[in-house]
Amino acid sequence: MPLAAERLQKFLARAGIGSRRACEQLISQGRVRVNGRLVTEQGLRVDPERDKVQVDGRVVKPSGRFQYIMLNKPAGYVTTVRDPQGRPTVMHLLPERPRVFPVGRLDRDTEGLLLLTNDGELAYRLAHPRFQVEKRYRALVRGEVGPEAVRRLENGVVLDDGPTAPCRVRVIRREPERTLLELRLREGRKRQVRRMCEAVGHPVVALMRIAVGPVLLGRLPKGAWRPLTPEEIAALRGATGLD
Ligand code: URA
Repeated sequence: MPLAAERLQKFLARAGIGSRRACEQLISQGRVRVNGRLVTEQGLRVDPERDKVQVDGRVVKPSGRFQYIMLNKPAGYVTTVRDPQGRPTVMHLLPERPRVFPVGRLDRDTEGLLLLTNDGELAYRLAHPRFQVEKRYRALVRGEVGPEAVRRLENGVVLDDGPTAPCRVRVIRREPERTLLELRLREGRKRQVRRMCEAVGHPVVALMRIAVGPVLLGRLPKGAWRPLTPEEIAALRGATGLD
């Protein structure tokens, strides 16, 4: 038995087919084949690298031995696996200790979409500006943001670590005392959105990330997580030039 072997239902669940329980049902319903053979008993061990697994005739691509998770990060959690100061980390929001790590960083007070994976190459590409993956944010800022401030944000503002790259900014709601903006950035410097908005005179009151490349936060409740679907994983890989 190869070392990498794992139970079929776990393999299917990890490949994003459904929950472990749903995958057990698929097996007992006779919808799963391994190397062409119909499998209806639970617990068969498969080698993700070598065995061909099909559900309803479609080959299930193992996402390597990688896991991909999205979390709707609430404010108050630090984006790290372990915090020397003992503050709550995003890992505390995941039920068991999966072997994943956060992709890039959200500030402690930033909410929204955080990806976690153990796929180092994808994580690297998602975080590196060279790969130009767009991150989309909703920022509630102080004051009424006028067209001139929007233009400045879009064209690039000078921060203490250099000018920012051009980005797209949309006013979603404008009130006399605060404005809701959507910003689409292709770089991710430390506290970049907060510093950009501050630089044009509109400090951020609340910040949320709503998309990373093709993956949208959607309606995932605050503090909840879910595995990415195979489609989302494929789209992220495509967006970073993998596969
Ligand atoms: N920009 C910020 O200022 N903070 C974040 O957490 C993410 C982007």
